[in-house]
Amino acid sequence: MKAKFEPLFESYTFPNGVTVKNRLALAPMTHYSSNEDGSISEEELVFIKARAKDLGTVITACANVTPNGKAFPGQPAIYDDQFIPGLKKLAETVQQEGAKAVIQIHHGGISCPSELVPDGDVVSASNIDRDNQKARALSTGEIEEIIEAFGEATRRAIEAGFDGVEIHGANGYLVQQFYSPYTNNRTDEWGGSVENRMKFPLAVAEACQKAIDKHAKRPFIFGYRFSPEEPSTPGLTMTETFQLVDALSNLPFDYLHISLMHALSTPHRGADTERTRIELVNEVINGRVPLMAVGKVNSPDDALAVRERNIPLIAIGRELLISPRWAAYIQEDRLEKIEYALNLKERDKYDIPNGLWEVILAAEGWVPFTR
Ligand SMILES: Cc1cc2nc3c(=O)[nH]c(=O)nc-3n(C[C@H](O)[C@H](O)[C@H](O)COP(=O)(O)O)c2cc1C
Repeated sequence: MKAKFEPLFESYTFPNGVTVKNRLALAPMTHYSSNEDGSISEEELVFIKARAKDLGTVITACANVTPNGKAFPGQPAIYDDQFIPGLKKLAETVQQEGAKAVIQIHHGGISCPSELVPDGDVVSASNIDRDNQKARALSTGEIEEIIEAFGEATRRAIEAGFDGVEIHGANGYLVQQFYSPYTNNRTDEWGGSVENRMKFPLAVAEACQKAIDKHAKRPFIFGYRFSPEEPSTPGLTMTETFQLVDALSNLPFDYLHISLMHALSTPHRGADTERTRIELVNEVINGRVPLMAVGKVNSPDDALAVRERNIPLIAIGRELLISPRWAAYIQEDRLEKIEYALNLKERDKYDIPNGLWEVILAAEGWVPFTR
């Protein structure tokens, strides 16, 4: 390996004492290939196994914590104990390759297609009916049930042998829908002020933490993924992101995961637009919790550029779809082996499940490919 890449391959110890072999993580990626009932399929195990080997951490696809949180066909489920045996296989598949297995836990809220949720009853923070989005506001009792469901999902992850959970508080799904003034116009204790809108994310975190304290017999990795800013007005600004990050940094998380399409992007508004979001967020965190960053880390030099901005952990998504052994090629100093586009003629070599393959083909440009 070229000496300059060594900072990517130093081991890392999370605040809870768990050590991972390097700074690289597989970003959570929905693969549209769990069984119809939400149980883990053989196809997704093959997909994960092909990518886990060279990484410190593997974050598996978002798994829905309640039936009405299902946002994708072929999404893995974690809302019932019946899923534990399959989840166990998923955790073991990752661990057998030497990586730590973290499962992302999720509720889609308004982003759930009505045909995927029971009785077509799509729920969110508020009653919403605009553009293509329609949802009913959750009652106070239902809010409490979903918070509890995140805690139960954490217990199941522990029982399945995972090394950690990551709360999916990003990408506009339910946890973010509560924080965002775009989707939350409630007038009760769960809406209105920044503090009230933040209550749901913090209550979810507390429920998960309680489950960890109660059920984990060894240190368990606890992460939270957030998106920094929304393009719409009203919508989350960097100022509100800083307030959330500040609150999250006071909780016993092992990492916060900033979800970005480009890891080195700069803010649109509400902060210094000349500096990268990761640097600004890191300033707010002020050493309280490590930050993981993601987004268009394609080349080894891209990863270094993020690492050099004092970011200890780097997640990689699409590039690991294209080049599953990306990290090994850096370590073996065979950079010429790294590919930057899928070659559709060589479909079999990628171990990409059918469902995901079809999504990639349909959304041309999302994941680069050549015919
Ligand atoms: C196929 C696919 C599925 C994804 N599924 C998830 C998901 O389940 N949870 C999540 O937080 N992000 C998801 N993402 C976003 C990625 O984790 C990542 O943040 C994004 O792709 C940007 O990083 P990249 O440029 O390295 O791909 C998905 C992305 C892709 C390409």
